[in-house]
Amino acid sequence: MHDARLVVNRNFTIAPLNRRIFGTFVEHMGRCVYGGIYEPGHPTADENGFRQDVLELTKELGPTIIRYPGGNFLSGYNWEDGVGPKEERPVKRDLAWGQTETNQFGTNEFMTWIAKADVEPMFAVNLGTRGPDEARNLIEYCNHPSGTYWSDLRRSHGVEEPYDIKFWCLGNEMDGPWQICKKTAYEYGRAALETAKVLRWADDDLELAACGSSFRDMPTYGAWEYDVLDQCFEEVDYISLHQYFRNDDNDIAKFLTSIDDLDSFINEVAAIADAVAAKRRSKKRIMLSLDEWNVWYKAHGEGHLRKPGWPEAPKILEEVYNFEDALVVGGVLITLMNNADRVTAACLAQLVNVIGPIMTETGGPAWRQTIFHPFALASRLAHGEVLRPVVETGGFKAGDHDNAPLLVSTVIRDPESGRVVVFALNRAQDKPMHLKVELEGLSLGKVKEAHELHHADLKAINDKNNPDEVAPVSHGEHDFTDEMLSATLKPLSWNVFVLEA
Ligand code: AHR
Repeated sequence: MHDARLVVNRNFTIAPLNRRIFGTFVEHMGRCVYGGIYEPGHPTADENGFRQDVLELTKELGPTIIRYPGGNFLSGYNWEDGVGPKEERPVKRDLAWGQTETNQFGTNEFMTWIAKADVEPMFAVNLGTRGPDEARNLIEYCNHPSGTYWSDLRRSHGVEEPYDIKFWCLGNEMDGPWQICKKTAYEYGRAALETAKVLRWADDDLELAACGSSFRDMPTYGAWEYDVLDQCFEEVDYISLHQYFRNDDNDIAKFLTSIDDLDSFINEVAAIADAVAAKRRSKKRIMLSLDEWNVWYKAHGEGHLRKPGWPEAPKILEEVYNFEDALVVGGVLITLMNNADRVTAACLAQLVNVIGPIMTETGGPAWRQTIFHPFALASRLAHGEVLRPVVETGGFKAGDHDNAPLLVSTVIRDPESGRVVVFALNRAQDKPMHLKVELEGLSLGKVKEAHELHHADLKAINDKNNPDEVAPVSHGEHDFTDEMLSATLKPLSWNVFVLEA
């Protein structure tokens, strides 16, 4: 048995948790929109063509914010093509993913759908083929009440009240050679600055995110963040991070240290943003938006990224998630919570079919992938402030990590109800872990809920015929007395304990 000790005290906190860290992402690609959230003619489709089975699973998943409409798709998208009478909308080729875009789903359909899901939108403006002019028109279309060309156009499309969309991303992955109209850091920093300036004049109540690096191993990483922020620091609130995790070596120990790598990535980007602030002697703190993250490596490469012949809604990036992927997703969620002082938005990419926690069959059923479960539990249960943990645990060697902690954990307290939630990932492969959590000054009564996500087979998956193969069960081995939670965590398991005041 491994031993681990976690101590928290009511008076010591990291930060309030911004619930926007439980975001996801809907891009016009593959079967995310068409065949995912929107499928007229599906047996569960409503009068808008929205699949009710997917909508119900989305509500259960519990995203708090959803990024739209891309992704690489964004950098070639004309938003005007997706509004107005459907029969007049142009059919176009999307060069980013080699697909045909019918434009039957656009801004107003997304806003109708997201209202039904009861989720905040995170919009993005095209800074690839387009620029500040189209971006300011979109803001006017979406957020201005009436009496101008673009706001009255929205009203003529049947949307009387403005949407008042707050969160806007300035382009997507503009450092990537795969991006339509990639820019240098200087070019992008200038474009982000001028677009942000214009958008703020169009609507003075926006939150704006500049693009950081597409991933931590980009050759321009670090310099990109500094140079971009050196241009647009005064006008933006966020710098984005994107990161997809891979298990190419089929090495679970190394795969699980993706969690530590993400922690370093977050700390590095925060330090770079603060260096830009320091140069200006500025107290302003740029926040971090991890607005694309997930496990993604199996449905990658030849045949998975694009299909020949400009198909509509091709089956691309349809990653099938297994149990070990769910452990990594669960661990990443813990790391995001522990970085609540800096990461105030994050989007699991994407929502459905395309590297999604929800999978569908066109014309058929929808089901929960393995990674659905840690996300749904964290989003439902993590409310309040993150307590500052002191952790004693053994370590393990993997990849370039000499001593990665076996225990990955966080403790969240809801100041309103007094409820405390402990999330704990045991990364030991050989033995269970005996975990003691000392909960000082928290006046807790009993364990109200306890969940365990574990499977004997790391490669176990959920599919249409066996949708619940990997799912949380009630955690049986725990005890709470006198400010102390004791629990036995199975090797390679992700666990949650909810304690009531
Ligand atoms: O989420 C899939 C793709 O990954 C997005 O379109 C892009 O931004 C990233 O490279």
